[in-house]
Amino acid sequence: MVLNGPNLNLLGTREPEIYGHDTLDDIAARLVARGAELGIEIDCRQTNHEGMLVDWLHEAREGGVHAVLLNAGAYTHTSIALLDAIKAIQLPVIEVHLSDPEARESFRHLSYVGMAAVDCVKGLGPDSYLVALDRAAAL
Ligand code: DQA
Repeated sequence: MVLNGPNLNLLGTREPEIYGHDTLDDIAARLVARGAELGIEIDCRQTNHEGMLVDWLHEAREGGVHAVLLNAGAYTHTSIALLDAIKAIQLPVIEVHLSDPEARESFRHLSYVGMAAVDCVKGLGPDSYLVALDRAAAL
């Protein structure tokens, strides 16, 4: 399961100098293609709502999901609810970012998601998702 948080629906036009020109649909298509090579089914979702991400994390536990790739967007840096959800579901969650938040403003340096995620892939643009998928497949 690949979960994307706020503003990632605007990829392609959102600050392309930071996030690139690929849309989330482009990234999802690449994940599905790589997943097919690996024999892994990809369920890629996006929401602008924090509670929806919490609900989807709970659903992942119930649905027999192997691992979750989570780009929580700005909620990465604010959401204790997401931290608690990741701890609660006892599934491997890999934190993903297009940019490298630690190389940006200081308010992006704290990651609540990172406190519970098993791994983090960042700063590679859309390739962050593909590297994270390969790592998830190896878990
Ligand atoms: C992001 C980094 C976050 O700091 C930011 O709020 C985002 C995108 C990334 O993918 O680089 O929305 O998660």
